[in-house]
This record gives sequence, structure tokens and C-alpha cells, in this order.
Amino acid sequence: MICTKNLSKHFKNETAIDYHDMTFEDGKSYMLLGASGCGKSTLLNMIAGILSVDSGSIEIDGVDMSLKTQKERDKFRIQKIGYIFQDFKLIPEMTVIDNINILRLEGVDTSGVDEILAKLEILDKKNKKVKHLSGGEKQRVAIARAIVKKPDIILADEPTGNLNFAIGEEVIKQLVEISKGKTLIAVTHDERLSSYFDYVIDMNEMTGGRRDV
Ligand SMILES: Nc1ncnc2c1ncn2[C@@H]1O[C@H](COP(=O)(O)OP(=O)(O)OP(=O)(O)O)[C@@H](O)[C@H]1O
Ligand SMILES: [Mg+2]
Repeated sequence: MICTKNLSKHFKNETAIDYHDMTFEDGKSYMLLGASGCGKSTLLNMIAGILSVDSGSIEIDGVDMSLKTQKERDKFRIQKIGYIFQDFKLIPEMTVIDNINILRLEGVDTSGVDEILAKLEILDKKNKKVKHLSGGEKQRVAIARAIVKKPDIILADEPTGNLNFAIGEEVIKQLVEISKGKTLIAVTHDERLSSYFDYVIDMNEMTGGRRDV
């Protein structure tokens, strides 16, 4: 379970975001909606331990992440969190399989990869360079890479942001299906996709608002 309490983030001399308390239960899927700039990506980055928490706390399974060192948070993320970035963060010159096997350098066991690529219907693209794939295919590679380590938590930042609705819907269906049993938190602007998730959280209501400091 992930619980935030009195969470806020201050960017130096610029913006402060105050979040209402949130709870994400194990094995459930959550869709985060909200206006641009309300703090969705910042929240995912704090849960993933990429950004530090300035005040308040994020507890994951009862452990306050803000008390961990950056090194401990990095280790936790590598082992437990699959993060699907909006811009994929794939290496275009490398093949699909090499983009995934690169995780072995971090000690990740990628042995289940073929099954995952098959589920995402991109097994036939395994040896293609990522630069030769379509947007939807790249998105699926990013999902495969996040899921191969069998994370407890999957964070997805606008996984359909660059896709047309039909392809985006297909990707979301597959993401939700492949994330069954894990905690999935996905940011999306598209309310039409809400039926695929257990819960929808409107971040406009969950942040006390952004204030300029
Ligand atoms: N590194 C940073 N330095 C300063 N301000 C930042 C930084 N990152 C984010 N912000 C500010 O914090 C606020 C929230 O940003 P965030 O990226 O979390 O929004 P978002 O909800 O993900 O928006 P979008 O839907 O456009 O992706 C914005 O006002 C943004 O300008
Ligand atoms: Mg964002």
C-alpha cells in the first residue's frame, strides 16, 4: 500500500504543490487525471524516489521513503517499481530485446521477456531497432521493459499521450491486463479510458493547488 500524508513539493523559488492525502491499495489500478501543471508527474517521481519529498511523507508498505537515502531509494525503484516514462526513454539505435536486456546491468532477470512481448503483440518486433517502430509499438516496448522485472508497483506517465484514441485504448487495455495483481498508477488526460481502471483520482481535487512562492 502506498500512502501519502501532508505531502508537498517546493521547487526552489518557483512553485509549491500541496497534495491532499492519498492511498493506493495493493493490486488496484488508478487513473490520475488533472490539468497540466497540477503535479501529476511530480507525484509519480516522488513515489519512484526520483524526486525527494520536501515535507510530509510517502509510505510504501509502512516504510517512509523520505527517510531513505537516495541510494536506498534507487535500489528500491530498480527492484520494485516499473516506470513507464512519457517519452519512453528507449535507445532508438538498439533493438527491442537489447533495450530490455540492458536492465541486466542493474541485476534484473529478464528471462520472462518473450512471454511479455507476445502478450503485448510485439514479439515479432523483438530484433528490430526501436527507431523503426511506430509510436504504439514503442509504447509497448516501454511497458514490456517496465514489467519484465516483475515490479510490485507500475507507474505510467501518460502512456497514451502520443497515440490516437483507438491505439491508446488498446495500449491501456494491455497495460491494465498485464498489471493485474500489481499496483498500477497511470496518468492520462483521456477520461474516456477511465472504465479500464479500478479508481479514478482527479488530481485537481487532490492538490490544494499550486502556488507560486
Ligand atoms: N524541476 C522543476 N523545477 C521547477 N518547477 C518544476 C519542476 N518540475 C515541475 N515543476 C513545476 O511543478 C508544477 C507541476 O509539474 P508537473 O510536471 O508535476 O505537472 P503535471 O501535472 O505532470 O503536468 P502535465 O500534465 O503538463 O504533464 C508545474 O508548475 C511545473 O512547472
Ligand atoms: Mg506530467
